[in-house]
Amino acid sequence: MKILVTGGCGFIGTNFIRLMLGSHPDWSIINLDKLTYAGNRLNLLDLEENEPRYDFVQGDICDRDLVMDLLADHKVDAVVNFAAESHVDRSINDPSPFVATNVAGAQNLMECARQRRTERFVHVSTDEVYGTLGPSGKFTEDTPLAPNSPYSASKAGADLMARAYFETYHFPVLITRCSNNYGPYQFPEKLIPLMFLNAKANKQLPVYGDGLNVRDWIFVDDHCRGVELTLTKGREGQVYNFGGNAEETNISVVRTLLSIVGKPESLITYVTDRPGHDKRYAMDFSLAHKELGFAPTLPFDEGLTRTIAWYEANGTWLEQVQSGEYRNFMDTWYEERA
Ligand code: NAD
Ligand code: TYD
Repeated sequence: MKILVTGGCGFIGTNFIRLMLGSHPDWSIINLDKLTYAGNRLNLLDLEENEPRYDFVQGDICDRDLVMDLLADHKVDAVVNFAAESHVDRSINDPSPFVATNVAGAQNLMECARQRRTERFVHVSTDEVYGTLGPSGKFTEDTPLAPNSPYSASKAGADLMARAYFETYHFPVLITRCSNNYGPYQFPEKLIPLMFLNAKANKQLPVYGDGLNVRDWIFVDDHCRGVELTLTKGREGQVYNFGGNAEETNISVVRTLLSIVGKPESLITYVTDRPGHDKRYAMDFSLAHKELGFAPTLPFDEGLTRTIAWYEANGTWLEQVQSGEYRNFMDTWYEERA
């Protein structure tokens, strides 16, 4: 099978490409990535140099001519769309690129794939489209969409477009909605790598609000297997939820991380809350379990220890991705909220 993976130089895309090429000798992958601040071509340089089943193309999913050519020239069987602007805080700062890539870009990809009669299209979405939960209950695939951030609103926009493409054109699209991922290659603007970096540098760890917001953490490989199962076994037109069965408050994640890296809790500092901050996410993934045989495999403590070991061993990667534009954004953001 020939797959066009978009956003493959980002966190989840990188892990997905590595896992899929490793476990499917008959698959080949073209990675289309714009290389925004969050995309790092070096993540997959070894594959670019040594793996004939891997091709990299720098470009934008909004570019119709490029996508049409790629789908035809490479005789693509399936598309897996990871490309996105993915950080909630950035979307609060400036929603425009989120609409451009997450809504218009996703629609452009679907339209090109429809015209090229691509056989399968997996659109990677998020639990955040459902909004927020109270102290109990879980999101199911039937929970109404109620996004609260510009990021989640843009992801919900694409999900609705995908639904419309299925209903209107019988376009073979499947949607995955997963909870918070963690693991190697995650850009250090997200909670876990950011707290790791700050702790190592003996800098303050900025916890938003009271620190009691809950996320359902899933190790990135488990999410990638969910996407793989959706691609190979899912029903067209269906949404599948994925989660890690690992609900944790942010403060508990930060404390566990500090104990793993051997730094004091006095580094924790509570800062102004994120506007529209969702209180709690939790996923009911029984449909994916029943239809696809999905189950998360890694307990949170084990996954976190493994993730931190990866960051400890990959200091150069961390230095590389933390240059210029990223650092400017983070410095201003935290100055404003301190
Ligand atoms: P990321 O920000 O690490 O990577 C995004 C990648 O997309 C980058 O390589 C970037 O260069 C690329 N990109 C951005 N705009 C592009 C464009 N217009 N054209 C081509 N490439 C473009 O994101 P991630 O954490 O790997 O998330 C991947 C996908 O999974 C996203 O769609 C996100 O919404 C979804 N998701 C993420 C999580 C999570 O916890 N990280 C959870 C559920 C779903
Ligand atoms: P994040 O990793 O940005 O993912 P998302 O907002 O998509 O869930 O944030 C995870 C949680 O951690 C979220 O509740 C916000 C919180 N958070 C902090 O408290 N401090 C931080 O510096 C960051 C980046 C996040």
